[in-house]
Amino acid sequence: MATINENYLKLKAGYLFPEIARRVNAFAQANPAAQIIKLGIGDVTEPLPQACRQAMIHAVHDMGDRATFQGYGPEQGYPWLREKIAAQDFQARGCDISADEIFISDGSKCDTGNILDIFGSNNAIAVTDPVYPVYVDTNVMAGHTGPANEQGEYEGLVYLPINAENNFTAAPPSQKVDLIYLCFPNNPTGAVATKAQLQEWVNYARENQAIIFFDAAYEAFITDPDIPHSIYEIEGAQDCAIEFRSFSKNAGFTGTRCALTVVPKTLTAQTQAGAAVDLWKLWNRRQSTKFNGVSYIVQRGAEAVYSPEGQAQIQDLVRFYLENAKIIRDQLTTAGLQVYGGVNAPYVWVKTPNALSSWDFFDKLLHNCHVVGTPGSGFGAAGEGYFRISAFNSRDNVNQAMKRIISKL
Ligand code: MLT
Repeated sequence: MATINENYLKLKAGYLFPEIARRVNAFAQANPAAQIIKLGIGDVTEPLPQACRQAMIHAVHDMGDRATFQGYGPEQGYPWLREKIAAQDFQARGCDISADEIFISDGSKCDTGNILDIFGSNNAIAVTDPVYPVYVDTNVMAGHTGPANEQGEYEGLVYLPINAENNFTAAPPSQKVDLIYLCFPNNPTGAVATKAQLQEWVNYARENQAIIFFDAAYEAFITDPDIPHSIYEIEGAQDCAIEFRSFSKNAGFTGTRCALTVVPKTLTAQTQAGAAVDLWKLWNRRQSTKFNGVSYIVQRGAEAVYSPEGQAQIQDLVRFYLENAKIIRDQLTTAGLQVYGGVNAPYVWVKTPNALSSWDFFDKLLHNCHVVGTPGSGFGAAGEGYFRISAFNSRDNVNQAMKRIISKL
């Protein structure tokens, strides 16, 4: 009989968001009249920018004409998209990133998991706590951890608690680690890291020959002009960091699927025997073998983000969700709750009232207010006693949800 990858059996019950969906569906079935407002998963609600839609329609016509038809595209993405990203997202900010260091993909979630393919199984791995669960679960699946304890912490991972005392921004650990996951603006806490804080991480990584996985999926939401958008704004980062970005949250591509991963050519890691190997070569090999690229139509849509109209339209989208975040922050503060985040990020991180557990608060909001959020404990043991509210929804739904919370909590 075939055998399974038993690492999967170590995973805690379900991936967080399907588990929330399961509970919400059960409630909805039992209460069919309830008008449930979902501020749980960070899924966008507003239509795709017009510039992107027009570009995709045009691309569909290209596909209908033998002269412009496209078959397999380059596994790394089309050069016309990679060049615009390099110029506008990186070089314009002083980052020395070239088009061929950018790999187009169908999602940052996929890439933050897939990147483990090119790393060995003996690395010491650090994650913050709370953390985006994909970083942890993909390491469990790859056999990089032991079993989980009662708090859900996996043996072998180094957890770096982030909390109000450290502004939800962990400092480098005292011990040596090899792989570090950083996410800024942070999911779930909405915190950002200053240039000085990121410099500390880059210095640590270089001293310890570690690699930083920098998830910048929410960079478009940074409003503070002093906060870096890319890890490559930090001196030395090209020698120690891989960056993940996405069109999901800035341009509403959660259902359209397009993202990018930056692997600088200067980045190396070593074999067991101590020989240095270029990570770019390994990632290129991995993508060429396991991935056939993002569709031409979608990449044309993503390219339109870089047109003047596209830029204006995505800025409008980001402003819209940030205004939602401000409403959530203001209303919950008025209701006497302690809130964090939501200024440079689409997530508001809330301290649960009356020392309620995260899941108890989840149930209370669902049952009393018909509002769905995400329990902080779902992001890790140190998220217990917190709750994440997403600003991705219509203005009406956000206003309605806040009204219900204030009157019924
Ligand atoms: C979240 O809610 O944390 C995000 O939607 C997850 C994701 O982007 O995969």
